Amino acid sequence: MDLTPEEETILNGEEGESRQLLMEILVGIGTVFGAEKMVPIRSAQVSGASYKTIGEWGLEWLSGLHARATVPAVLNPVGMDRVRWKEMGIDPAFAEKQHEVLNAYERLGIRLECTCTPYYIHITEYGDHLAWSESSAVAYANSVIGARTNREGGPSALAAAIIGRTPCYGLHLVKNRQPELCFAVEGVPGDADESWFGALGYLAGKIAGNRIPLFTGIRPTRDQLKNLGAAMAATGATALYHVRDITPEARVFKFDTAGLETVPVTAGDVGNVYSREEPDAIAIGCPHCSEDELNRIADYLKDCRVKKPLYIFAAREIISRSARAVRVIERSGAGVYADTCMVVSPALEQYQSIMVSSGKALAYVPNMCGARSFIGTLKECLETACRG
Ligand code: F3S
Repeated sequence: MDLTPEEETILNGEEGESRQLLMEILVGIGTVFGAEKMVPIRSAQVSGASYKTIGEWGLEWLSGLHARATVPAVLNPVGMDRVRWKEMGIDPAFAEKQHEVLNAYERLGIRLECTCTPYYIHITEYGDHLAWSESSAVAYANSVIGARTNREGGPSALAAAIIGRTPCYGLHLVKNRQPELCFAVEGVPGDADESWFGALGYLAGKIAGNRIPLFTGIRPTRDQLKNLGAAMAATGATALYHVRDITPEARVFKFDTAGLETVPVTAGDVGNVYSREEPDAIAIGCPHCSEDELNRIADYLKDCRVKKPLYIFAAREIISRSARAVRVIERSGAGVYADTCMVVSPALEQYQSIMVSSGKALAYVPNMCGARSFIGTLKECLETACRG
């Protein structure tokens, strides 16, 4: 790799052992993937924040680093709400270790905003280079914003946060962002909501695998795109997709789609992803809710009292920006939690059957929570919670 004099200085250890070690990680990854240089990043999102996943070894590694982030950086969701963990029924011993992990990240200059929707927190623009970890956030950044990030692991995203650069390969290069297959969608229902696009992504991800899809025949909103990409990243390995006439690169580039494999998808195919069952609990906010989603949930729940456990997840900053909506939701008996989610928190492991409005949660809940999952529309989820 061609390194700048400043990058060479870090690699030679002249700025301390920790920065040298983290630079070695970045150079090692860049060398393996054939990067020719480093590229400065605008922000980082770091996974490996739950004590459940990184354990004692990870905590020790973090505690041994002596450096500070040089770009805005946040964390992926952790195993509990940092403030309301007791209400979530989290074991105090786990909470203590989780706080130690969070303190270690804070000492490294990572903001303790634990969310898979960093795009609601940091200004992120078309063409920005990023080092983000969480698969749905990566899909959103690349596809909906037109920023550029590979799907980073925890250590490489942390290294990028501290060094302020990432190796320039993969999706940082325009030539690697072309569509590789086409989904021709027909008959989108007029009332298709976020869950419908999650169900579409659930199907499409299984077919796309790690290929970059181009969708035709759909006109999703931003929250619907969020759900589409999250589900494809869960059942496949999608880090970038395009929607004709909607997503930024599909408007900027003239893609050569001749010869692309085209897969027809009907409303009936998507409808088959939905099923009916009586759940023990309902969970909404995968990926974390936007302000608009919290407002819509509040509108529905304003005259209701929930009779089944209803969990709603969003970034802490979004919750504080939506104080009125959150008050209305919690008056109904539902819980709005920050920093965590239905998949990474042990709080939902007590249930046998969980209803979700997300294609990603549909895919992950069975393995991660040991419960059956099924998908309904947002309205059906809220109706079910209120009906009891
Ligand atoms: Fe976010 Fe958790 Fe879903 S991290 S995308 S809410 S599985």
